[in-house]
Order: sequence, then structure tokens, then C-alpha cells
Amino acid sequence: MCGIIGYIGARQATPLLIGGLRKLEYRGYDSAGVSVLDPALGGPSRVVRCRGKLGNLEEKLKAEPAHGTVGIGHTRWATHGRPSDENSHPHKVGPISVIHNGIIENHLQLRQELVASGSHFSSETDTEIFAHLVERQIVDGAENLTVAVRKALAKVRGSYAFVVMSDKEPGTLVAAKNSSPLVIGLGEGENFIASDVTAILAETRKVIFIEEGEMVTVTKDKVEITDLEGKPKQREPKIITWSATQAEKGGFKHYMLKEIHEQPRAVADTLVGRVDLENDDVNLDGVNLDVKNIKRIVFIACGTSYHASMVGEFLVEALARIPVEVDLASEFRYRDPIVGPGDLVVAVSQSGETLDTMEAIREAKKKGAQVFAISNVIEASIPRLADHAFYTHAGPEIGVASTKAFTTQLVAMTLLAIHLGRRTGALSRERARVLLNELVQLPNKMKEVTDQGAHLQVLARRYGGAHGFLFLGRGSQYPIALEGALKLKEISYIHAEGYAAGEMKHGPIALIDDQLPVVVLVPTGPSYEKTVSNLAEVRARQGKVLAVATRGDHDIGGHSDDVVLVPETALELQPILTVLPLQMLSYYVADQRGTDVDQPRNLAKSVTVE
Ligand code: AGP
Repeated sequence: MCGIIGYIGARQATPLLIGGLRKLEYRGYDSAGVSVLDPALGGPSRVVRCRGKLGNLEEKLKAEPAHGTVGIGHTRWATHGRPSDENSHPHKVGPISVIHNGIIENHLQLRQELVASGSHFSSETDTEIFAHLVERQIVDGAENLTVAVRKALAKVRGSYAFVVMSDKEPGTLVAAKNSSPLVIGLGEGENFIASDVTAILAETRKVIFIEEGEMVTVTKDKVEITDLEGKPKQREPKIITWSATQAEKGGFKHYMLKEIHEQPRAVADTLVGRVDLENDDVNLDGVNLDVKNIKRIVFIACGTSYHASMVGEFLVEALARIPVEVDLASEFRYRDPIVGPGDLVVAVSQSGETLDTMEAIREAKKKGAQVFAISNVIEASIPRLADHAFYTHAGPEIGVASTKAFTTQLVAMTLLAIHLGRRTGALSRERARVLLNELVQLPNKMKEVTDQGAHLQVLARRYGGAHGFLFLGRGSQYPIALEGALKLKEISYIHAEGYAAGEMKHGPIALIDDQLPVVVLVPTGPSYEKTVSNLAEVRARQGKVLAVATRGDHDIGGHSDDVVLVPETALELQPILTVLPLQMLSYYVADQRGTDVDQPRNLAKSVTVE
């Protein structure tokens, strides 16, 4: 999740690049840079880049101005390599400057090969690999930049949007796309390239969207699209009518809705490079845990991350057979917790900055425990404080109510549990294979759920007038019930409670009448029949039941007032699908009530007070 911009024309590139990057800053903001050249001088491009917000780059450019009418610019959200000056884009190797959005999946292998054949790297990024690959093609005699990029692309696996510039061919920019957005903006005697129309709307509304597996060669007067074999493609330009703010939200009304729909992509990014289908195993980015000596795992987290941790408890105990405890970080250090050597404390935080979680980590470390952080933000305080860090790669989450950060945390939990299970011996290779294959299929299945917006909107209208909601689930669906209730509370301000379905008869059943919608998570599995009985208890008291069930369940309609169906998957992965309709229901209820969905009252995205 980075921001990309390119310009080629007659105007000075740097101010245009900075203007575009300013619009893209919401996508990533840990470093920024430009590479600019003047075709008239033909000289080498000037690369100016630095860690920190765009303002830092602007300051640096005052001291080191970059003049020229061709350039590329980037704002970074770190995935491989911490935020630093060296890891900032553009990366330059010989005459080649590269900016990149996405993840090169086979980066380890490519880097080893390049180092073995004499390449020297100056950053920790996967992107620099691509600059080396293109440069090699030029040295080996590729006839032009387009051919060099095409040949380099043949070696790369993963998700990407690249823009490449060469000092030797100053009138050309070459870009390519696979699973990361890329758009060309058309002007008079000038053209733009961007990861996002937002970046170029101030300059042009005439655009061409580049599609999967396409390359594009852009000069100031021409745009040539081909497939990766070089076969030409024709595409008519479109005129964008969105306002700049609408464009920033990708055409969605709110960031939260955009982020809900980004989840299939975010989960795919979390899996990149971690799923080892050859060995039916999980690679934790090189983290070597001393698994045989882990006696217990203690999850610490707050809010939504706490709910993800509760699912983590279910996963680690089921797959690795290691005892697990889950603690609210805000409570942990106040009860003199019994924790120490032999414990692996897993600190889970979307922002990586939650003060309660940081203090809990300090307490755990003081007592001798090892800490493994799961964070969405690279080099945030929590992963820096921990002994090991694992990043979810969901990209920046702007909406205060967490959605894609949560589902990618669930994926991280699953990967951790499989990794541990394979090492404790509790998880057979065959079962690991089944789970890993299911994980790989998840993004498509998630999309099948997020495509049900129209249905969820109808349900939101039907139930959104209620004064309260109850969410019920058993096993790993219990934390999802808690998460569904939290989401609804946060953005719609309707009171909601999440309960373990079996607990309903011990109290909350008293609340049930024909005014209380009850959302019941009832996917197929060992708890199915018991949960259906709870659902019958609700209906016997005139409660209104909205069931979230598995596609192919033909009976559930007879037990409930409304149903949302999710695709079938392994039991362990069901929470990643069943939470999606709850996020969407909350969103549509809140939107109908006209609340400030992205910045709900009294809440902040990072909670840095105790
Ligand atoms: C989630 O929707 C909330 N905004 C909140 O509960 C959040 O999960 C909690 O504050 C913890 O934040 P963290 O994941 O950044 O540590």
C-alpha cells in the first residue's frame, strides 16, 4: 500500500509529483522520494528521498532541488525493510530508477541469485531487486526500456505496480501492473501515471485504467499498452466525474466501506511469502521461535485486536496443543500476572502504538517472557519493543472501526498456529496442507461475501431502527459475536452485546422480545446443532433472528427470520468469513443513521493513553 506517481511532459515534474504525492499520503506515509531528469540535458536523474512524512521530502528538495520534465515519485508504507532513507523509493541501480507498490513474493530467492552474480544492494527492500533485474537486461543488450522491463517481469512473482525510468531513454516511462492499481492520466503533450486517480485529478480527468498483467509505455505524446508478451492492447480513455474526495475513497462513500472491500486483497497480501505449499508449512518471515520450549502462550491486546486474540486462542490450542491465555492488555499489568521464561507473549495491535499493550509488553519482558508482536504498522513502537515482529500487511486503515486489520490479524493467527503446530507435532502435514490450501482460496471466498452489499443494506433497513442488538456464537464464533457487537456500537451508537450462545440462558435471555434483533453465527461445524437450539430459544420468545450460516445449509431458513450465507471453508477459517457480514451490517446501519462512520464520536485510531 504505497502511492505512485509519474510525469512526462513539458512542465517541471517535481511540483507535479509532490502535488500528486500529497493526495496519496493517506495510503502510506513512512517515507517519500522522487527521481527526476531533464531529457534536454540527458544527464542522470536526481534521486531525492527520505524517511518520514512528505513534508520532510519537501524540505530536502529545497536544499537539493530536482529539475527536469520527467520524473517518478513515491510515498511508502513499509512492507519489506523498515522505514529509512535507504529503503525509501525510488531505488536507483545504474541508469534505472524504480518505484513499486506491492510485494515481490520470490524476493529472497531473486536477491540471493543477484548477490551471487555480483549485485550490491543498498536497501532491505524487495523493490531494489527489480531495479537490478531491469538494469541487468539493459547490460545484456535489451533493445529498449520496455523490453528490459518485460524481461525482468518474467522473473518476478507477486503483486505489483511498477514504474520504471531510465537515464538512457529519458523520454519514456514504463509501468506494469499485477494486482495493484495503476492508472494513466492523459494530457496535452504530457501524461501521468499513478496508483490512484486521486493523484492526478487536479491535472486531468481523462484516464486509462491499466488491467491485470498489462504493461504500458508512456511518452509525452503516446500511451502504448501491451500484455506481458508484448501483444498490443487497445483501450478507450474514460472521463472521471468523481470529486477529489470521492476519488480518495476509491469511489466508496466512506473509508470504512472501502476497507471492507479491500479485505480480499489485504488477506492475499498477508499470505504472500508465508505459505509454503511445497513443505506444507508456514514461514514466519525468518522468525525462529524455540517452539519446543514454549510452555504457554499469552495473548495480550485491546478492543478488536483482543477479539482476534480470542480466535488465536482457539487456533493455537486446536492446532498446536499449546495452552493459551488471552488477556486484556489494559488489565494485564495491574494484577501482577504470573508470566515468565517459557511463556511466549503474543502482543496484537493494528496500530502498533496502543499504550496499554506497550505497558503490558514491558511487564512481560520484565518478568522474562519472550514477546512476539503482530502489528499492521512496520517499525511502530510495539513491534520495536517486542523480540520478534510479524506484520499483517493490510495497508493503512483510515476508518477508526477496524475491519481489514482484524481479518488480517486472524490470518496471522492462523499462520502462527500452523507454524507452531507443525513444530510441536500436533498438526499433521496432511491437515496443514488442507488448511494452507483453504487459506489461499480465502480471498475469493471473502469477495463472495463482500459482494452481498445490496442484501446487507436491506437487512440494515429492516433491523437498523432497533434500540439494541444481541450477537451470539459458540467456539471461535464467540469472539466474532463480540466483534460484531463492538463494530455496531462503535459506529452506529446502538447498544449491542456479544455473548457465547450457550450463556444466553444464564441471563441475556431476559432481554429477548420482538424488538430485539439477535444475530446468530451458525456456520456448519461441531456446534451447529447446539447453536440452532439457542436460536430456537430466541424465536420462542418472539426475538427476531438474523442467522449467518454456511452456503448449502438448507435448514437454517426455517429457523430464522433472515439469513446471510458465507461460502464453506475449514472450521478454523470460518471466523474470517463470518465477520464480514457483521462489519457490513454495522456499516449500513450506521450510514442509514447518518453517523460519522469513519471518525465516530469519542474514538481515536491509535489509543496512546492508558
Ligand atoms: C477497533 O474497531 C477499535 N478502533 C479499537 O477497539 C482497537 O481495536 C483498539 O483500540 C486496539 O487498537 P490496536 O489494535 O491498534 O492496538
